[in-house]
Amino acid sequence: MLQGKTVLLGVCGGIAAYKAAALCSKLAQAGAQVRVIMTKSATEFIAPLTFQTLSRHDVMIDTFDEKDASVVSHIHLADSADVAVVAPATANMIGKMALGLADDMLSTTLLATTAPVFVAPAMNVHMYAHPAVQQNMRTLAERGVRFIEPGTGQLACGYVGKGRLAEPEEIFAEISRFFQQDKPLQGKKVIVTAGGTVERIDPVRYLTNDSSGKMGFAIAEEARRMGAEVVLVSGKATAPVPAGVNYVGVESARDMLQAVLDRFEDADIVIKAAAVADYRPAEQAPQKIKKNEETMTITLVKNQDILQTIGERKTKQFIVGFAAETEKIDEYAMAKLRKKRCDLVVANDVSAEGAGFGVDTNVVRIYDKDGLVEALPMMGKNEVAARLLKLVASRLPDRKGAD
Ligand code: PMT
Repeated sequence: MLQGKTVLLGVCGGIAAYKAAALCSKLAQAGAQVRVIMTKSATEFIAPLTFQTLSRHDVMIDTFDEKDASVVSHIHLADSADVAVVAPATANMIGKMALGLADDMLSTTLLATTAPVFVAPAMNVHMYAHPAVQQNMRTLAERGVRFIEPGTGQLACGYVGKGRLAEPEEIFAEISRFFQQDKPLQGKKVIVTAGGTVERIDPVRYLTNDSSGKMGFAIAEEARRMGAEVVLVSGKATAPVPAGVNYVGVESARDMLQAVLDRFEDADIVIKAAAVADYRPAEQAPQKIKKNEETMTITLVKNQDILQTIGERKTKQFIVGFAAETEKIDEYAMAKLRKKRCDLVVANDVSAEGAGFGVDTNVVRIYDKDGLVEALPMMGKNEVAARLLKLVASRLPDRKGAD
């Protein structure tokens, strides 16, 4: 998978810099061209010669140390990278990345690259938990930076807690997975619902919710990338429609029900990320309602539950529901899973920062009939989608090599 790929490895100044040597070695042995950039502080912890020997390439430290007059080094390195990995990433480098600062070779190159960026933080437990660092990581996750979570354990500073650089094997596995050409959903038909439904009161007024469609669209995009044939049934949304999916725009919950049922029999997987209105106005006025009265009462009637309907009708389909909760997440998610006969339920606490409606990130807990399967920390919705779909692929009766 890594054969011939160019991996830009950024090494920052922390004691975990020594682990970056093992990562560099693994990447090089797997056939990658590893181009190492060290910060000046990193050279206090480990010699550039170590990386030069392991990667068989010059190690860059100083932006102005132009070794090849035919190119501008930081732009050349930025352009040639298939992926960039910062390991270990210090709080300082994460802060610079979040702010778009470019005051050394590594930060300048990271600003110039359009390649996907992985960041593996390593620092003291209190630094990691500091709101400034957490905010910076959130900012970067929203821009699509993929974080490789630090581990918990004994830290070099003497503390025990979260902040230890992920093991080189783990980081290597993440990068390999990124290049994995395997398409675990090849040949599968997937229906994804997204966005918010619109329930008309009259021709110009309606009831809806804050769904942007970002979560469902990310799932549709990722399912497509994994080889599936995707139908994206979406209500009102602001996110751009991903390429390569069959887009079916709908308005009300009833429209969405019909669009899903029309395609349900053929589907292998249905993922219901849409925020569907539970109620709709009992009557829809044919003309704009005039403000003649001091008060106005709208009678609402219950919408049919789409997820429950398909749950009751399922034959071969693997069904994933979402649960938007603000309290008792586990209890309510499990109740929905049982009632709606889902194979998995993805619960998000929509009152938590960086989760739920409108934002680019989410924090989800995934359940099956036996309880919690995975609790994912805050990450970009694309990353949530990838993790969810990998889990789905691994649970299909005829799974195709998903891990
Ligand atoms: O679109 P974004 O801005 O990215 O926001 C993402 C999200 C918060 C909308 C998404 O992550 C999410 O939680 N979607 C489900 C929202 C919701 O309606 O949750 P619920 O707990 O009310 O419903 C549970 C499940 O039943 C959902 O899968 C829902 O699609 C489904 N449902 C609900 C009512 C109904 N009449 N029919 C349904 O199918």
